[in-house]
Amino acid sequence: MRLQLYSFLWCLLLQVALGQEDDLSCSKTKACEIGCCGPPDPTTGLGVCGLGPDFCGTGCQGTCDYKSECDPGWGLDWSNATDCPLNVCCSKFGFCGTTADFCNGKVVVSPECSGRSSDQKTIGYYEGWNLQRTCGTMAPEDIPLGYYTHINFAFALIHPTTFHIAPMDAGTASLYTRVTALKEKDPTLKVWIAIGGWAMNDPGPTRTTFSDLAKSESAQDAFFESLIKFMLENGFDGVDIDWEYPGAEDRGGIPEDFDNFVTFMRNLRNRLNGSGNAFGLSITLPASYWYLKGFNIIELDPILDWFNIMTYDIHGTWDSTVKSIGPYAFAHTNLTEINQGLELLWRNNINPERVVLGLGFYGRSTYPCFTMKDPSCMHAGCEFSDGAKGGACTGTPGVLSAHEIVQIIDDGATVTFDKEAAAKIVTWDSDQWVSWDDAETLELKLNYANRRCLGGTMVWAIDLDDGTLIDALGGLLGREKKETYPTGGWKWLYADLGSGQEE
Ligand SMILES: *[C@@H]1O[C@H](CO)[C@@H](O)[C@H](O)[C@H]1NC(C)=O
Ligand SMILES: *[C@@H]1O[C@H](CO)[C@@H](O)[C@H](O)[C@H]1NC(C)=O
Ligand SMILES: *[C@@H]1O[C@H](CO)[C@@H](O)[C@H](O)[C@H]1NC(C)=O
Repeated sequence: MRLQLYSFLWCLLLQVALGQEDDLSCSKTKACEIGCCGPPDPTTGLGVCGLGPDFCGTGCQGTCDYKSECDPGWGLDWSNATDCPLNVCCSKFGFCGTTADFCNGKVVVSPECSGRSSDQKTIGYYEGWNLQRTCGTMAPEDIPLGYYTHINFAFALIHPTTFHIAPMDAGTASLYTRVTALKEKDPTLKVWIAIGGWAMNDPGPTRTTFSDLAKSESAQDAFFESLIKFMLENGFDGVDIDWEYPGAEDRGGIPEDFDNFVTFMRNLRNRLNGSGNAFGLSITLPASYWYLKGFNIIELDPILDWFNIMTYDIHGTWDSTVKSIGPYAFAHTNLTEINQGLELLWRNNINPERVVLGLGFYGRSTYPCFTMKDPSCMHAGCEFSDGAKGGACTGTPGVLSAHEIVQIIDDGATVTFDKEAAAKIVTWDSDQWVSWDDAETLELKLNYANRRCLGGTMVWAIDLDDGTLIDALGGLLGREKKETYPTGGWKWLYADLGSGQEE
């Protein structure tokens, strides 16, 4: 009760803070936050903040050298650039964006297919640290085989000064060869090493390592040599670079990352090919304009085998600090928003065959506010105050694994199906809320990937599932589960099958 009252007040405060409109009036003493302070109004003496010749030209009162992000037709005297990043629209006010306010009737043409292009590849990330959880873990030997065409082992890191490949920790490193050994049981399986991840760019020793590497040929030489040796020694077939995110100031990025990442990937591709092995190369992409604009996707596209687009985590508890969104609960894998994210690729003529759609085997949860005021408001769009309670095994507030959600539903939670978003909303304990994907919504997403001619789907992460979701996805793909063998043996079964393999 106290907690609920507290969150009620907290939400109210947040709303007041968020409700503050941007004040666009200005004067000689009150500068504009964005733009130039235009000529004074004859009665009030106040100007209005804006861009272009009307505000920054004759009569301008302050910050008059401010140039717009893009040029709606004023010329480059008034704008920094003619076009917007990622070819998004330039509004008549000189701002870049993707909605109708910016695009003035222009629409994006998305690819359309009727086949099953995305059945080709099913990539699963495996969290090498998952055994450190107290429950709901999955040892390499328990990874279901037969469904995934590729496993991306997450993660390895890069040493910030030697630029050699580095383990996250000893426990994670001890699993590399246990995962690549699965290829003996499933000879069609490929196992790649994923390097980086969100935490590598957190404040700390490796925050600028990707930027440093991308701008230095000598650092790249050291990295490539160590990487190829590592892949050969541990039996990896390819490398997936997860840089989160180039060019993003809030993630330790610098503007030069935009071009340097291309050179880095071109050099890596040449070196991998030159090694005489058929190593694969992919990178992950964010699905939001904000982070994707740091990637030169047009130049990267032909260098890579494919892009893994992270079409999950679109919403989470961090939304509450984003002024334009606020503390409202939304599904993190909303198909409407996934489609908008992919439009950023189609605006740049990216080949859909080289795009792999991300599927989440976990839910993002939020704790709705105003449950006292309006107990019926548990659907998308309702307000929240905090991440929901952490899961019994994963323990991170705001995240629940598929494994945990299955349990919560078994215990009697209410599940609603939002067909348009292709997401399920699960509510329980009067105030707990999580959005996730189940068999039904995975089918909608797989159909969508086929309709958009994509080259495959990928899953974050194999070990967050108790088998429910991958059995469903595998069924949709028409793949059969291969028998897996318990840790330690069943050698007699090998003998029976006459495979002649030793474990
Ligand atoms: C325009 O460029 C200047 C100088 O590079 C920069 O300080 C400013 O933030 C840019 N303006 C916008 C709207 O991006
Ligand atoms: C590298 O090898 C792949 C095949 O493994 C090929 O498709 C690609 O064109 C090669 N790229 C370069 C830059 O040599
Ligand atoms: C899905 O996204 C659309 C567009 O942003 C939004 O209107 C809708 O409420 C979202 N649905 C859910 C379940 O989050």
